[in-house]
Amino acid sequence: MNAVPRETAGGAPPPSREAREFFGDRPGLAQRYVDLLAGVATERGLLGPREVGRLWERHILNCAVIHEVIPTGADVADIGSGAGLPGIVLALHRPDLSVTLVEPMLRRSVFLEEAVTELGLANAVVVRARIEELRGRMDFDVATARAVAPLRTLVRWTMPVLRPGGMLVAVKGESVMDEIDAAAGVLGRAPVATWEIRTLGAGVVEPPTRAVIVARQEAVGQAGTEQRLR
Ligand SMILES: C[S@@+](CC[C@H](N)C(=O)[O-])C[C@H]1O[C@@H](n2cnc3c(N)ncnc32)[C@H](O)[C@@H]1O
Repeated sequence: MNAVPRETAGGAPPPSREAREFFGDRPGLAQRYVDLLAGVATERGLLGPREVGRLWERHILNCAVIHEVIPTGADVADIGSGAGLPGIVLALHRPDLSVTLVEPMLRRSVFLEEAVTELGLANAVVVRARIEELRGRMDFDVATARAVAPLRTLVRWTMPVLRPGGMLVAVKGESVMDEIDAAAGVLGRAPVATWEIRTLGAGVVEPPTRAVIVARQEAVGQAGTEQRLR
């Protein structure tokens, strides 16, 4: 990894070489989002001040690499988006996606609205709600979540808002195997079709991002679950 050479005027670090390569034609937009996180989001207590120096690695790239598993043109709900992670990162890196940032807390949803406007993200909207409140009102191809709830809870929350064949992408850390053990009940029954652990972004972010991907059945009655580790 490149050492961060210096801070920008707003206190946000400049992008590493990996980040510049990753964001290709939109590095300026990603830097503007990092500036918002380092500035307004930190001042309002949405992000700890200690995170500012490691925004690119620990937050932006850690989230961005999950785009690998998201199909072209998908409707994505980012559950518990907070300050926009991973939802805003996905929206700015993947203009083909339609991203709904689902966040119940007022000051976080206000920040999200401001960030979407400031970054000119035509492919992102903010919905101030708990995900459970959206059942029967909205549905999506993909639900993403990072640092929101245990896997078993995320599966229960998201399956009802996913279209047939849709998937949950849950970013998880060290505790992933314990979370899978605790989720065995929900992972083993309909409407879950398959689940797998994926390691994403090797060579882009260190450590690579780990995500549990839980696919919803295409149709009622589809055969049971399988486990794949990659
Ligand atoms: C620890 S923060 C994580 C924020 C962001 N995903 C990240 O990685 O930085 C968890 C967020 O989940 C939100 N949240 C909690 N329960 C929720 C629910 N039932 N539906 C949607 N969001 C929820 C909280 O308001 C909070 O903003």
